Amino acid sequence: MPHTDAPWWTSATVYQIWPRSFADGDGDGVGDLAGIRSKLGHLHDLGVDVLWLSPIYRSPQADAGYDISDYDDIDPLFGTLDEFDELLAEVHALGMKLVMDLVVNHTSDQHPWFAESRSSVDSPERDWYVWRPRAADGSLPTEWRSFFSGPAWQLDPATDEHYLHMFAVGQPDLNWRNAEMRAAVHAMMNRWLDRGVDGFRMDVINFIAKTPASLEPGAAGFEMDPSVHDHLQEMHREVFAHRPDRQLITVGEMPGATVDDAVLFTDQQRHELDMVFQFEHVDLDHGPDSKFDVRPLRLSALKRSLARWQEGLADRGWNSLYLGNHDQPRLVSRFGDDGPYRVESATALAAVLHLHRGTPYVYQGDEIGMTNAGFTSIEQYRDVESLNWHEEALAAGASEADVLEALRSRSRDNARTPVQWSAGAAAGFTTGTPWIGVTANSAEVNVEADRASGERSVFDFTRRLIALRHELPVVQLGAFALLAPDDERLWAFTRTLGDERLLVLANCSGEPYDLDPGLDPVLRRRSVPDLVIGNTPHGIGSLTLGPWEVRVLRG
Ligand code: NOJ
Repeated sequence: MPHTDAPWWTSATVYQIWPRSFADGDGDGVGDLAGIRSKLGHLHDLGVDVLWLSPIYRSPQADAGYDISDYDDIDPLFGTLDEFDELLAEVHALGMKLVMDLVVNHTSDQHPWFAESRSSVDSPERDWYVWRPRAADGSLPTEWRSFFSGPAWQLDPATDEHYLHMFAVGQPDLNWRNAEMRAAVHAMMNRWLDRGVDGFRMDVINFIAKTPASLEPGAAGFEMDPSVHDHLQEMHREVFAHRPDRQLITVGEMPGATVDDAVLFTDQQRHELDMVFQFEHVDLDHGPDSKFDVRPLRLSALKRSLARWQEGLADRGWNSLYLGNHDQPRLVSRFGDDGPYRVESATALAAVLHLHRGTPYVYQGDEIGMTNAGFTSIEQYRDVESLNWHEEALAAGASEADVLEALRSRSRDNARTPVQWSAGAAAGFTTGTPWIGVTANSAEVNVEADRASGERSVFDFTRRLIALRHELPVVQLGAFALLAPDDERLWAFTRTLGDERLLVLANCSGEPYDLDPGLDPVLRRRSVPDLVIGNTPHGIGSLTLGPWEVRVLRG
């Protein structure tokens, strides 16, 4: 239960389901609602409070469902509205909540709104999207690049004008200056809330408002317009304010948002959002031009970045906490050790994440320490971003080997392989042929094996962390203080609330780490400290942390 009158989600943990790869109920090789329903026991055992479903709406699947052609229906790949209602009822009966993905920066180019908009420059819905005339000199309306390679403008033959698409060609951007379009989005959100869903994860929601200057000829790229705050406040009035009796949750995905932005977006007094997904910590190992420009990551940079967000949102606003999702590499491969210390590093990183102040998000498979896909040929990849970048990089002269190496560490497909449920065929994900290859280690890394592994179970460790957040006000709300900020191996911090104090010590390396007793008074006490949770059963009183050992001490 949350402490005092803090919002319910301060004690909650969210689990992200990427439906295509979660569990397949009908044997067609693609995960679906029937599969999710068959695994609710797994999620209930884990103890998560909220399930967030990545998009399951009708979609041509140009970007794995983030290109929506009908916001009011379920794609037949995943099931039907009736099955959705049954799933929702089952989730609620188990005491969990269900959050939908809201993708309204863009639609699919197959959405009827876009069909109408593109039909004529005089269409009443022309202005629902961002159109620009073709220039006489052949130049594009701006210099913006799409996130999925190539220019962000597409010439549409129907009217010989360009439309904006920040993502794939099949994902035209909506024009949020248009009040009728906004009203249609609000009505759609209200229909889902009436159906019983418990909130929304809002896709790239800071991108909906573009500054007029950034849409002028020659402009280099997107700039967020302050009207984004008006749009979110309006959305709150039109959608959420009507439902004071419901316990809802909103989280806005916001690439490029700063701490100061996040304070404004998540200050409860401003009635915008409950929390945002920021990107600072997952962009630290990117080069200046692209995420595929892989740079080494210093532990000091990672922990300092997260600590800055902890401080920035300490008094106003709230953090979401994540180290992985369907767009990022697997956290154990990226930040931990997916070789000999896979279990230790998965649990150490989980403890560090869950013990920050904020709402933690667990991405499917992270609860058993799933690793990157390990693909070695371009034929194994499915993601539009990876495939487009492969083509673009080769055309620009990069070698196939270099491109494959970058994809191996950065492709979104690393986190999109099927959840490994068992050591059986297709990792127990499907009785058919999976739509994307199963990661090669599924015989060892799978839910059955993990849950049978006693003290070494990543699932059980994660379950205990989630329970700690339910139980301990200091985990929910305690003030955060980073220790030893420059240390490149130790991730240490305290959480304090009244007389309660936790000391978190994680050795983020494969070598033993000797603690400096000067770090914290708890380490200078003679008595053996009280261990709240740790991933190594031995040596609690010693001043040496084993490889990737984490200890959470009280005092
Ligand atoms: C962010 C989503 O998480 C990602 O998967 C998607 O490709 C883009 N937004 C576009 O919708």
